This record gives sequence, C-alpha cells and structure tokens, in this order.
Amino acid sequence: MQFSLSSASLESWTGSVLAVGLVESDASGLVEQLESRLELAIKPWLEQRRFKGKSGEVTSLQVLKPGLSSLVFVGLGSAESVTLETLRGAAAKAAKASLGQGDSLGLLLPWGNHDSAAVVAAAEAVRLTSYKDQRFRSDAEPHNVPERIELLGPCPAGTEAALAAVAPVCAGVELARELVAAPPNSLTPAAMADTAAAIARDFGLELTVLERSDCEQRGMGAFLSVSKGSDLDPKFIHLTYRAEGPIDRRLVLVGKGLTFDSGGYNLKVGAAQIHMMKYDMGGSGAVLGAMRALAELRPAGVEVHAIVASCENMVNGSAVHPGDIVTASNGTTIEINNTDAEGRLTLADALVYASKLEPDAIVDLATLTGACVIALGEEIAGLWSPDDTLATALGNAADQAGEGLWRMPLKASYRDGLKSQLADLKNTGPRPGGSITAALFLKEFVDAGIPWAHLDIAGTVWSDKGRGMDPAGATGYGVRTLVNWVTGGATTAA
Ligand code: BES
Ligand code: MN
Ligand code: ZN
Repeated sequence: MQFSLSSASLESWTGSVLAVGLVESDASGLVEQLESRLELAIKPWLEQRRFKGKSGEVTSLQVLKPGLSSLVFVGLGSAESVTLETLRGAAAKAAKASLGQGDSLGLLLPWGNHDSAAVVAAAEAVRLTSYKDQRFRSDAEPHNVPERIELLGPCPAGTEAALAAVAPVCAGVELARELVAAPPNSLTPAAMADTAAAIARDFGLELTVLERSDCEQRGMGAFLSVSKGSDLDPKFIHLTYRAEGPIDRRLVLVGKGLTFDSGGYNLKVGAAQIHMMKYDMGGSGAVLGAMRALAELRPAGVEVHAIVASCENMVNGSAVHPGDIVTASNGTTIEINNTDAEGRLTLADALVYASKLEPDAIVDLATLTGACVIALGEEIAGLWSPDDTLATALGNAADQAGEGLWRMPLKASYRDGLKSQLADLKNTGPRPGGSITAALFLKEFVDAGIPWAHLDIAGTVWSDKGRGMDPAGATGYGVRTLVNWVTGGATTAA
C-alpha cells in the first residue's frame, strides 16, 4: 500500500474510490463540486439516506463514471469537534468501505486545523484497517485492498516527509498482531527468538539469546521456575538498536513473553478463556513490533534495548508446585502461592537484567492481570509509575497514538499484601487491587533511581469484535505508543 499527496481537486481526481469527510450541516461546497462533476443529484440522495454528517455515519454510492467508480461519504460530527481521533475513525470507515472496490482510494478530510500528524494518523488508520491475517488458511479469502492511497486537499507543511514513517510503523503493528494472533503450537519461545533474529538480520541490530543454562548461571530462578512444566526451552531475548553518532538516551523496553499460560497447577478453569492465553505474549509482541519499526526509522541519539523472557506456563511432573520458593537473580526469594501469577516471575528477572544496563528509563508491557481488564476494560491499558515525568511522557505518546492509557496508583501500603511468612515476598496478593499489587511486585526488581513504568495491557491486546482501525483479533496495542515515546513524536510531528 503506497501513500502519496495529491494536488487534484474533487473535480479532477481519478481512481476507484473517492472518500470525502463531511461535517454536520456541511457548508464546504464539496458535495456541490461532486454534483457538477458527476451530473448527479447527490444532496437529495444523501438526505434520502438520512446522512447528516454525524460522527460514525458512512454511506457509499457506485457512480460508475469514467475516472471514478464509487463515492464514499463519512460523517465527522460538528465542525468544532473534529479531533485527531475523529480523522482516524473516519479514515478507518473510508478504508472499510473501499475494500474490494478497486485499486486506488482518494481521501479528503479537513486537515486544515491540524498538523501533519493528522494526515499520518489517517494514513495509518487506512493501512491498519485493511490488514487481514490469512497465514493459517489453506485457501485465502478474497481481500482486495486499494494499493494506491492519495491524500487530497491542502495538507499541512511537512506532511510529505512525515508520511515516510507510516510504512515502518504499520509494519511494526502488523508484526505485533501476527505474533499475538499466532497459535501457541506455532509461536513458541524459540519462534519468538527467531523473530528477534529476523529483525536483527534484516535491520542490522544486535541480538543475544540466553539459553536455559545461561539463565541458570545468572541465577534467574524466578523466570526459570515458570517453564519447569513445559517441554519447550525458555529463551531470554535481548535485542538492541543503537543510533549512529552520539547517544543521549538509553532506554529499555521489557515485554511479557508467555507464549501460552495454562495457569500451571493453579490451572485456568471455569470462566477463564484458557485457549486465549496464546496472547499472553502481547507485551513482547508490542516490544518486538516497536523494535521492527524503530530499526527502520533509525531515530538519532537513542539506544533501545528490548528484553523478553519468553517461555510457556504448563503442567507436568516437573512443573513448579504451588508453594515452591524460588530465588530471583537479585537474590530476592519468592514464595509462589499461585502458579498463575507467572508473568511477574518472568518479568522479575527481566527487570533485574534491564536495571544492570543502567538505562535512563525502563518501560515494561505485560498482559499481567485480569483485574486490570475488570478495572479499565478493553480500550484502556493501565499505567503504573513512581516517576511523574515518565508517566506524562507515556501518556502523551499514547494520546498521540490514539491508544487508551490511564495512570493507576502504586499504593505503597498495598505491598503488605505480598508479605510471605517464609520468603522475602509471595507472588500473589489479595484479589482486591490485584493489578496494583502486581505492579508493586515488579517494582521490587527495578533498581531504585531508574525511572520505570509498567503498562498492563491485558484488556487491550485483543478485540473480539474489532473496533475503529482494529480488525477483530489481535490489536497490536502498544507499538505506536512506544514508537512515539522513543522518538519523542519525531516521526509524526516532522
Ligand atoms: N495472563 C494472565 C492475565 C490475564 C488475564 C491476561 C485475563 C488477559 C486476560 C496472568 O498470568 C494471570 O493469570 N493473572 C492472574 C493473577 C492472579 C493469579 C493473581 C489473574 O489475573 O487472574
Ligand atoms: Mn497466569
Ligand atoms: Zn499470564
């Protein structure tokens, strides 16, 4: 899919589908321009269809004229209320309506009051809406997306250059979606390591993969306990992007990488959708997706480390027992009072390792708790951080990406819930406030003094029905927030 700017007007643009955004009681004259070009009474037709220009409305019309086969109208709501999110949503609707309608799409939205970020957001929405995962079908279903996307209308300064980021960023989101959607018999810890290796090879990044014995030597008893019941070897993945020239910031992205979470001996039963626990590597999917994007964007002045302690949580005669006490690589002893709170055990050793890199900041992403899904639902991830500056930066990065993120409290007194009679900590606190005690558990493994933030993406990693620009299934949540945060928005605000 190729994006370009077009100086054509509604009267002169030629292609398959022309999509036009209209506000309520539109006075732009766009409909009149189309009426005179096509010699069609479009206004009465829109009225007949009860199209008012309300946000979310969409209607299309086959015109079958030389140089144009169909028209799509997308409602934008009241003129004053058009935000970046409105344009993103409208672009997604336009993309859906143009599926199977031909090989080119012209898109005219009111960019006027926005900067180039709005055009980039709309372009991303078109591409990400059009994505369809057909890897596991023996016979692909027809899915014809327009190959040439032209953005019409006077675009803000710098748009042309900013559009160059669309393909790398969307490729990163698509990689994350493919990793998350892949079944656990295909996406194993070894396959995660292979994915990191492919990124390293394709873009010249550095990669270290620690095998089980390397992890044993480093004393990663928390991480290693989780995969004791699995036939698959754990893989501790460390992928590094280094900008050429001077480095101002060293950042670490840590992703939870459970390729399957059965719960272990605290087996997931009842309402728990155990078969969905293939997506328990969503954090590492987002981290590898962001690395894929950054590796191609090559932002200056940063070094970015991606850390994924990948494994499966399974049961057999060697599996960790509920009640076992293990020792993490910083010497902390942990009583595993619930084997289903395994993500934090893998992250503990990953965060100790991350701290040793002496970075300027650590951000971890994890499908960590069902409690976070209950608290914030499927459209908002939770953010925990003792560092206001980092929390604000991540909040801004998420806002710009249109990814829901809400800061939650790291209530210090709740740490009492993690006290063990025998060990330094237990891995599971009481049910109330379960996502807060999970975050407090992680905090124990980050060196004090290193700004750190934790994103619980358990709710946002998957969308059963699809919404906005996310087709049903894996969303690729987090990739665009991370890219915006690492680049300081430089890729979209050029
Ligand atoms: N991977 C799950 C969290 C999860 C639950 C993600 C639902 C997505 C949807 C995690 O490993 C887990 O099992 N957490 C437990 C923790 C509990 C035992 C303290 C949970 O949330 O129930
Ligand atoms: Mn679990
Ligand atoms: Zn899990």
